[in-house]
Amino acid sequence: MTDKGTLDRQLVLEMVRVTEAAAIAAAQWRGLGREKEADQAAVETMRAAFNKLYIDGTVVIGEGERDDAPMLFIGEKVGLGGVAVDIALDPLEGTGLTARWAPDSMAVLAIAEKGNLLNAPDVYMDKIAIGGGYPQGLVDLDQSPTANVKAMAAAKNVAVGEISVCVLDRPRHEKLIHELRAIGVRLRLIPDGDIAGVIATTEPDTAIDLYMGQGGAPEGVLAAAALNCVGGQFQGRLVFRNDDEKERAQRIGITDLHRKYQMHELACGDTIFAATGVTDGTMMKGVSKTRIGWRTHSLVMRASTRTVRRIQSDHIKHEIDRN
Ligand code: FBP
Repeated sequence: MTDKGTLDRQLVLEMVRVTEAAAIAAAQWRGLGREKEADQAAVETMRAAFNKLYIDGTVVIGEGERDDAPMLFIGEKVGLGGVAVDIALDPLEGTGLTARWAPDSMAVLAIAEKGNLLNAPDVYMDKIAIGGGYPQGLVDLDQSPTANVKAMAAAKNVAVGEISVCVLDRPRHEKLIHELRAIGVRLRLIPDGDIAGVIATTEPDTAIDLYMGQGGAPEGVLAAAALNCVGGQFQGRLVFRNDDEKERAQRIGITDLHRKYQMHELACGDTIFAATGVTDGTMMKGVSKTRIGWRTHSLVMRASTRTVRRIQSDHIKHEIDRN
C-alpha cells in the first residue's frame, strides 16, 4: 500500500449521493422482515449510483466473490471512467436491523487510491478499536481484554467501572463478555452493525471507549477506513473457521493467515468514508418520509483533511425516480 496523494474533494459529495440513494432504497423495506429484498434494493441502487459517476472504480470489498454475488462483487468495475479508485462497500450494513426496523442500519462505503484498501475475504475478524487522542499502542489485540480495559482506564484517569465497551451480542463472545463483566466494565451489547460500533469509539457523545470482539472482516476494513479519516486506533486479525475460508483468503492473495493488521494496513492514504442512516442510529438518524419525498442523514469524512461532515438532504420523490 502506498500513500501517493489525495483524492479529488469533489468525490466527497459524490460518495454521499451514492449512500443516500442506497439508504432510501433500503428504507422502503424497513420493518417488513424481508432481509434479502432490502439488501437487493440497496445493492442495485448503489451500483446504479456508482455507474453514473466519472470514476474508474474497482470493488475490493463488496457483496462477495463473483460466483456468489451477481452485483458489486469483488473485482467488479464501476463508473463511467475517470480517476482510478478502490472501493469498499456495504450497501446495507445491518440487513436484519432493517428488516426488524431496529437501530443502526446504514448504507456505507469507502474509497481510496488503488491498493490502499485491504482486499479482505468474507470471514470473521477479531477487532479492537479506540477513538483518537490516546498514545499509540495503548490497546492491543494480543493483550487480554482486562489489560486493554485497564490501559484505557489509566489513560483516562478513571476507574475501570467508568469504561464502556461495545461488543456484538453473540454466543461466541460469551467468554469475553464474562471477563468484562467480572471487572465491572459497562457493556453496550449490540445486536448487529459493528461498523457503527467501531465508529462510536470516535464520538464522545456515545460514551463508548472501546470496541472489542469478532465481526465481519469486510466490515473491519470499512471501519478502519472510517478511523483512518478521523483518527483512532484499530487492529484486526482474520479468523478462519475451516479450510475453505483459508483457501478463499489465499485465493485473494493473503499469505500470512495469522497476521495482526494495523489500521494503516487495512486502509491508508487519502480515504473518503460515507454512510447514510437507514434506520435511526447512534450516529445518524435514518431515512424519514417527507410530504414530497425523503430526508436523509449522512456522515462523510475525508482522511487528508480530517473533515467530518454531517449532511441532511431532502430528496424530491420524482428526482429519486428519475435518478
Ligand atoms: P449484515 O449487514 O450482512 O447483516 O451484517 C451485519 C453484521 O452485524 C456486521 O455488522 C458484523 O460485522 C457481522 O454482521 C457479524 O456477523 P454475524 O452476524 O455472523 O455474527
